[in-house]
Amino acid sequence: MDRLIIEGGHPLHGNIQISGAKNAALPLMCASLLTDQKLVLQNLPKLADIYTLSSVLEHLGIACEKTAIGEMSLQQKGPVETTAPYDMVRKMRASILVLGPLVARHGRAKVSLPGGCAIGNRPINLHLKALEAMGANITLEDGYVLAEAPSGLTGAFIRMPMVSVGATENILMAACLADGETIIENAAREPEITDLAHCLVGMGARIDGIGSERLTIQGASSLGTHTHRVVGDRIEAGSFAAAAAITGGAIQMTGVDPAIMGATIDALKSAGVQITTRDNGLSVKAEKGGLKGIDIRTQPYPGFATDMQAQLMAMLCMAQGASVLTETIFENRFMHVPELTRMGADITVSGNVATVRGVDHLVGAPVMATDLRASMSLVIAALAANGQSMVNRVYHLDRGYEALEDKLSAVGANIVRGKE
Ligand code: UD1
Repeated sequence: MDRLIIEGGHPLHGNIQISGAKNAALPLMCASLLTDQKLVLQNLPKLADIYTLSSVLEHLGIACEKTAIGEMSLQQKGPVETTAPYDMVRKMRASILVLGPLVARHGRAKVSLPGGCAIGNRPINLHLKALEAMGANITLEDGYVLAEAPSGLTGAFIRMPMVSVGATENILMAACLADGETIIENAAREPEITDLAHCLVGMGARIDGIGSERLTIQGASSLGTHTHRVVGDRIEAGSFAAAAAITGGAIQMTGVDPAIMGATIDALKSAGVQITTRDNGLSVKAEKGGLKGIDIRTQPYPGFATDMQAQLMAMLCMAQGASVLTETIFENRFMHVPELTRMGADITVSGNVATVRGVDHLVGAPVMATDLRASMSLVIAALAANGQSMVNRVYHLDRGYEALEDKLSAVGANIVRGKE
């Protein structure tokens, strides 16, 4: 297995190109199941999750062809398979997003239940209830969910009892091929959902209220071909911003719209980071030792993203004063805390609240994490720590950060990939 070896203490300086967002790319790829026409996606990040989902889609009858750098053409070839087996789904939870499109277009979908994961229980009851409201017959057997609607789905009024990114995406896609109007109330508003909605509109769907908590979809009998550019990754950009800040560096990032990073930018500014935004990027600068503690509460968009909590926590480990981070989305998303503590951080956790007391310095150590963003938080801490750190289980990072060590080395980090 690979690991990253990081010699800390080098301020980051220079330019970083931000990749397309993983959290947008995965649902967009699943949208290819809604049509027999070609869907071309551009600005796709080069990530393990993209290849894993390609193989799930290939299994379901979609040819996924790399057509240029960062570009993939997805189109149905021959007969469609409507069962997504356990061996494929267990590798990646996002596979559940094939459920809505498959049942909407083919009247049947059998998808392995994704099960729990390192950051929590992660149920899919909201996805299933909404599909039931649209006329699907849902049964659970042998670890699979079987959704059947032989004469197609019908539009429905769906009020989500809580904000769910995945359920909103699944139902939005399904509704595009349902008979009549679907209204999704209390829909998630994440920019990646907005990106998906724009792509669906490009494919011929009729969606009102894009970007709001109420989506109205007029179902169509079919969708057509479209070429779509994946939105830039606000979480990757936020992660690099935290990395630059903790090292007392200054970086410029391009390829991301700062307008979708509002809560992260506000938090960074409150912590003493200087930020200048442009149309398609932002600059980040911090003085060494100049960060100060802040309070953060994770919330659905436009609130502070749960996907940024671990990285900001790492940065705040070296801020002056105390910070309080409250995690409201997942019950078990503080696994980075014991590892950060091993690097000299002063953090106490009580339930879903972590209190960080800033320290003068962190010390390098061998560390590992059990999920993607937690792993990135360890990289951020290691970049500022005295001495050498080894971040093990790099496969988590490979799932979500394209060319991480190349991008960081190019701005002055001392980071190499080695073998465990
Ligand atoms: C969530 C995050 C998303 C992040 C992703 C990966 C939110 C709102 N969602 O999306 O920002 O990119 O994890 O880290 O911040 N839930 C149910 N039943 C369901 C579906 C969800 O109870 O059927 C609960 C979940 O347990 C969770 C909350 O709803 O507490 C939000 O989950 P959801 O948005 O669906 O999760 P993801 O789509 O994975």
